[in-house]
Amino acid sequence: MTKIQKKILITGGAGFIGSHVVRLFVKKYPDYRIYNLDALTYAGNLENIKDVENEPNYKFVKGDIKDIEFINSLFEEIQFDAVIHLAAESHVDRSITNPNEFIETNVLGTANLLNAFRDSNKGNFEGKLFYHVSTDEVYGSLGKTGLFKETTPYDPQSPYASSKAASDHLVRAYGNTYGLPFVISNCSNNYGANQFPEKLIPLFINNVKLSKPLPVYGDGNYTRDWLYVVDHARAIDEIFHHGKKGETYNIGGFNEWTNLNLIKLLCKLMDERLNRPEGSSEKLITFVKDRAGHDRRYAIDAGKINSELGWKPSVTFEEGLALTLDWYLSNDEWLESVTSGSYQEYYKKMYS
Ligand code: NAD
Ligand code: DAU
Repeated sequence: MTKIQKKILITGGAGFIGSHVVRLFVKKYPDYRIYNLDALTYAGNLENIKDVENEPNYKFVKGDIKDIEFINSLFEEIQFDAVIHLAAESHVDRSITNPNEFIETNVLGTANLLNAFRDSNKGNFEGKLFYHVSTDEVYGSLGKTGLFKETTPYDPQSPYASSKAASDHLVRAYGNTYGLPFVISNCSNNYGANQFPEKLIPLFINNVKLSKPLPVYGDGNYTRDWLYVVDHARAIDEIFHHGKKGETYNIGGFNEWTNLNLIKLLCKLMDERLNRPEGSSEKLITFVKDRAGHDRRYAIDAGKINSELGWKPSVTFEEGLALTLDWYLSNDEWLESVTSGSYQEYYKKMYS
C-alpha cells in the first residue's frame, strides 16, 4: 500500500494467528493505532497478547462480529483505514458437530464487517483496504501430486472450509460490486506458540506431556503443509503493505508432512526434552475413527508471494518445531488454564 494506514482494525487478535499479527503490527508500526476486536470465545485469550496490552498504539475492543449494531457503531465511531480480518471459528472437527456456528461467524460475521466498512467509507475508498485472511482448505483436497495455486478452483469439503470459501466469495463480490479495495490470502496449516490444544500439534504435545493416548485419525497418511505462525504474520505484513489490491496470495511452508511422520518426529523431540527413553512417546499413538470427509492432502504453491513480494519462511520446520515445543513446555500455566473447564467437556465428547 502506498498510503500510511492510521487506524487498523485486526479481528480475532486474541486467537492463535491473530495474536502474532497484532504483536508484529503493534511493535513494528508505532505510527499505526491497532484496534484488536475479539469476542473472546473459547479460542480467544488475552494472555496471548499480554506483552503488548500497555503499548500506547494498542487498544483491545471486546465484541462479536455477529452483532450488526455493535459493528456498525464501532465503524462509525472509529472510521478505520484498514481491516485485517482473522476472527473465525477455525476448527474443522467443531464444524462437523456444529456447522451453523461456522456459518454465522465466518459468513455472516464477515458480511457484517464488509457492510460496515463499505458504509463508514461512504463511497470514498482512497487509501483504504480490507484484508481477508483465509485458508487453503477452500481448494479442497489434492491427490498424490499437484499444488494449490491462486487459480485452483474452489472445492471446499467441510462445513468450516465451505464457510471460509463463502466469506472469500463475499469479499471479492464487494470488491466487484461496490469497489471495496481488498486482498485475500489463503494459508496452509500453522503451528507455533499460543495455538489452542484442539489442533494436532499442541494437542499432541499436551497429550505426550500427560502420557495420554495420541488419537491419530484413520490411517494417519494425511498430508499437511506446515508453516510457523510468525512466518504467516510476516507474510500478512508483506501483503498488507505491498500486495496488489484485488489479488489473492497463497501462503505455505514448502513443507509437506504426513501426520504419522510428523507425529513420530514430535514424539522423538518430546522424549529428548522430557528425558524419557527413546520410543516411549510413540507408544502412545492410537489409531481412532477417521474425521468425516477428511481431506487427504493439502500443499501450497507459494511461488506468487515469493516472486512478487520476496516472502519466504524464515525458519526451517526443525527450528520452528523446536521453538514451539520449548514454548509449550515452559508455559505450563497457559496450557493448564486453557485445558481446564469447557475443554474437558470438549475432549470427552471428541475422543472418548
Ligand atoms: P483461532 O480459533 O485460534 O482464533 C480465532 C479468534 O477469533 C479467537 O480469538 C476468537 O475469540 C475470535 N472470534 C471467534 N468468533 C468471533 C466473533 N464472532 N467475533 C469476534 N471474534 C471472534 O483461529 P486461528 O487458527 O488463529 O485462525 C485465524 C484465522 O486464520 C481464521 O480466519 C482461520 O480461518 C485462518 N487460518 C488459520 C490457519 C491455521 O492453521 N490455524 C491456517 C490458515 C488460515
Ligand atoms: O490448512 C489450513 C487449516 O489448517 C486451517 O484453515 C484450520 O483453521 C486449521 O485448523 C487447520 O486444519 P486441519 O484440519 O488441517 O488441522 P488439524 O490440526 O485439526 O488437523 C491436522 C491433521 O491432523 C488432519 O489431517 C487431522 C489430523 N488429526 C487432528 C486431530 C485434532 C488427527 O489425526 N488427530 C487429531 O486429534
